[in-house]
Parts: sequence; structure tokens; C-alpha cells
Amino acid sequence: MAVKKGKPKKRIRKKKVLKVRPKKIPQKRAIKKSVAREPVLKSLLPCSKKEWEKVYAKRNFDTIPWNLGVPATELKAFLEMGLVPRGRALDVGCGTGSNTIMLAKCGFHVIGIDCSPSAIALAKDNAKRARTHCTFWIGDALHLNFPTGYFDFVFDRGCFNQLGNGNREKFIETIARVLAPHGWYQLVVLSPQSKDPNKFTKMKIQQLFSKHFDVQDVVETSVLDKKTKKKTHFLVAIMQKQ
Ligand SMILES: C[S@@+](CC[C@H](N)C(=O)[O-])C[C@H]1O[C@@H](n2cnc3c(N)ncnc32)[C@H](O)[C@@H]1O
Repeated sequence: MAVKKGKPKKRIRKKKVLKVRPKKIPQKRAIKKSVAREPVLKSLLPCSKKEWEKVYAKRNFDTIPWNLGVPATELKAFLEMGLVPRGRALDVGCGTGSNTIMLAKCGFHVIGIDCSPSAIALAKDNAKRARTHCTFWIGDALHLNFPTGYFDFVFDRGCFNQLGNGNREKFIETIARVLAPHGWYQLVVLSPQSKDPNKFTKMKIQQLFSKHFDVQDVVETSVLDKKTKKKTHFLVAIMQKQ
């Protein structure tokens, strides 16, 4: 084979590119610092299933502000109005079951669901102690496996409140699906007076729910924490499925 003769190829050296760091612009730095100093508003309540479970697993009820150990006064007041027929009820995000137990005592066939296994275990114990018959399931409020139109009443104190923007629509559709036509939904959320970022105005509730529900009434209420002497402000909404 003939070997090609020629000039040996020159090695091309890569030119070193000098990296020039851009000059720091003092103004920009100042902006960054001021952003960092802004307080990040974090909800005082848990927002993920893992966090809820952590809270209940500790079983330190003095540190669980929503766990009153007694039924919610707004639920009692609504039932006394006599609008809801005693049929099937769902307590969504039931926690340790105080409201589920009261619904059973009032004559409902009631199911309490919560994403926290520890909360459900505690709720079962509480129902046993109260000698009431309730059904408790570990479950996700966004994936309710009940037949369409199964419930006459859904009670929700604090579950919808913490779902976050991305899940709200799905939750509302799920609740509307499992409710019978003209079934009732009582919702308790943090009011604009609350310092928590997950709070709602009356107008926001109307906006979010009016696609599936007739929002009949939204009233402000507050609960005084006997230990901390602090008030928590709520909005209580009563609505009926269209
Ligand atoms: C503020 S607590 C209120 C508990 C109870 N309703 C009460 O009034 O004492 C909210 C409850 O919703 C439950 N929860 C939050 N997200 C949930 C989800 N995606 N599915 C089911 N339960 C959920 C939490 O574990 C927690 O028990």
C-alpha cells in the first residue's frame, strides 16, 4: 500500500478563552438581599399527608390546635336547623372523629375518612369508648371510592382548607359527585382574619363552589383556645348540591 506522504499535520492548539466574570452590579445584589429578607408565609397547619401523619403519630394533643375533643359547635347548630334528613353522612378529613361520633349519635349512617392512619386508629378508639357505631377508613379525600350520589351530607372542617391550589377543583368535583342531588355540604375554613396563608373570603368560596353548589350561607365565627387564649377565625359555609 502506498503511504501518503505530505506535511505532517499541525496540531491546532485550542485557544484559551479567558473567562471574564461579569462585574457585579451592586444594585442587583441589593434587590436579591431585600427579597431574601421577605418573610415566607408558611401555613401553620400541615399541608401534606406525611406531615398530617407525623402530627397524629406523636399523640401530643396539646399541640394539635384543631383537635378540640368535642364536636364542632357549627355542626351542632346546622343539624339543629333540621334541614338535613338523617341518611348517609361523610366526615371528610375526620381527624380523631369527634364530629363523626356526633353524627352517628344524631342518627346518621356515618363514615369518617382521613389520610392519617394514626388519626383513624384514634378515631376508632374514641368511637368505641363513646359506644357509637361509626365506620372509619384511611383514605384520600381526592380519591373517594363511593358510588355517585351516595351521601346526603358531607361535613368538612379543615380538610379542603389545606389542600392547596392545585387540588381544590378536583376535591370540589369529588364531593359534588358523591353527594346526592340536593345533598348538603358544610364547610369550615380559615377566614380572612386568620394569619395563615390558606384562608378564604366569602367571595372566594362563592367563586370556587358555585359551579356545583348553591352556596346558601357563609358566616364568620371564631373559637377561643382556652390554653393560648388566642382566637382562631373561621368561615362556615352551608351549601346544597345543584
Ligand atoms: C385541620 S384537621 C381537622 C380534623 C377534623 N375534621 C376536626 O375538625 O378535628 C384536617 C384533617 O384533614 C386530614 N386530611 C388532610 N388532607 C387529606 C386528604 N387528602 N385526604 C384525607 N384526609 C386529609 C388531616 O389528616 C386532618 O386530620
